[in-house]
Amino acid sequence: MTEICLSPSGKVVESQPGDTVLAALERAGYALPNNCRAGACGECKVRVMSGDFDQGMVLDMALSQEERAQGYGLMCMAKPTSDRLVIEWGTEDAKPKLFPPQTRQPFIVTDRIPRSSRIVELHLRPLGTPMRYWPGQYVVLGDAPAGAPPRCYSIANAPRPDGEIVLQVARVDDGLTSRWIHDSLAIGAYVSVDGPYGTFIGDPSVETPVLCLAAGTGLAPILALTEAALRRNYRQPVTLLVSARSRADLYGEGLLAYWQTRHRNFKYRAALTRETDPALLNGRLPVVLPGLFEDLSSHSVFIAGSPDFVADCTRAVTALGAKPGQIHTEGYFGQAQPEAPPPEQLVA
Ligand SMILES: Cc1cc2nc3c(=O)[nH]c(=O)nc-3n(C[C@H](O)[C@H](O)[C@H](O)COP(=O)(O)OP(=O)(O)OC[C@H]3O[C@@H](n4cnc5c(N)ncnc54)[C@H](O)[C@@H]3O)c2cc1C
Ligand code: FES
Repeated sequence: MTEICLSPSGKVVESQPGDTVLAALERAGYALPNNCRAGACGECKVRVMSGDFDQGMVLDMALSQEERAQGYGLMCMAKPTSDRLVIEWGTEDAKPKLFPPQTRQPFIVTDRIPRSSRIVELHLRPLGTPMRYWPGQYVVLGDAPAGAPPRCYSIANAPRPDGEIVLQVARVDDGLTSRWIHDSLAIGAYVSVDGPYGTFIGDPSVETPVLCLAAGTGLAPILALTEAALRRNYRQPVTLLVSARSRADLYGEGLLAYWQTRHRNFKYRAALTRETDPALLNGRLPVVLPGLFEDLSSHSVFIAGSPDFVADCTRAVTALGAKPGQIHTEGYFGQAQPEAPPPEQLVA
């Protein structure tokens, strides 16, 4: 068995005989970026600071001779051959580094699907290089000449090879940008997107049960996080509670039912606040939660939705023992301006 040590955090991952470094990291929950998993795209390139590995057959265009000489390797094909391998990955606290946000990335609206009477889902396909992002992050979309100022929208899917991103936008009756999206933005339209932004991303160093709480389109980043976690076989129980006013406001239930059937560790329940339905939970999530969980001290909690929903749920999970460092929140503050992360948190 080999120890793979992550620098600068010092976290250690065990690698079994025959494992690639990527496989060992993923089993331990670390989401190293990757695409082809065959040594052809260069996406999984990291610097190996010490230790030996067998790089296997990879393409020169994915890993040049110069990069090899500098110690870089492609982790999707690299197999450790020494007892210890130290690789440069992540930040001091073993969080993944963020991809530098880019402005004015061209996308085409390839589809728009009404998800409820107030929520439309946009599918955007990039015209240029796919945007690199972590599940849970958001983009900024708007059209100044059309009177739609830039607004933040969470990406509702995990990254795909074709770079398509999905946004779920709720109509705000007197809202400038959400009304433009609902009433004017047509299939085939060209849009310019900035991003990715935000740090509402999975913490790869935790192996805990997960509780996700979402209200309205707060479901969007939770869908992306859940898709990514289930895709890489996260083993711990994942519970998703969705809050909606009425049954008609619930959306995404088909996908959630599929995940629940396909993955035994995933459970989904909806709670209605303005209707009663004996088949569902009834009441606001902060009120319902104590009846469902006695102790959340070992859970990681992800909460997304309106600022009031996030604040109320944070209080409720804290009262049930959830630790501050394990509560991750995304509040949909109106007219929020995105902040570019500091350089030391960015992928070089
Ligand atoms: C990180 C982040 C992620 C976000 N992700 C999403 C997402 O995935 N989907 C989504 O639909 N929205 C999301 N939002 C909210 C979004 O950015 C906009 O605030 C929202 O679409 C309203 O913009 P607007 O231009 O239509 O309204 P504005 O013209 O900005 O506002 C018009 C009026 O409506 C009020 N208002 C603004 N937002 C709301 C609201 N949600 N409910 C009630 N009143 C409101 C304002 O205070 C103002 O009085 C996110 C916000 C943040 C900060
Ligand atoms: S994932 Fe493409 S080279 Fe490793």
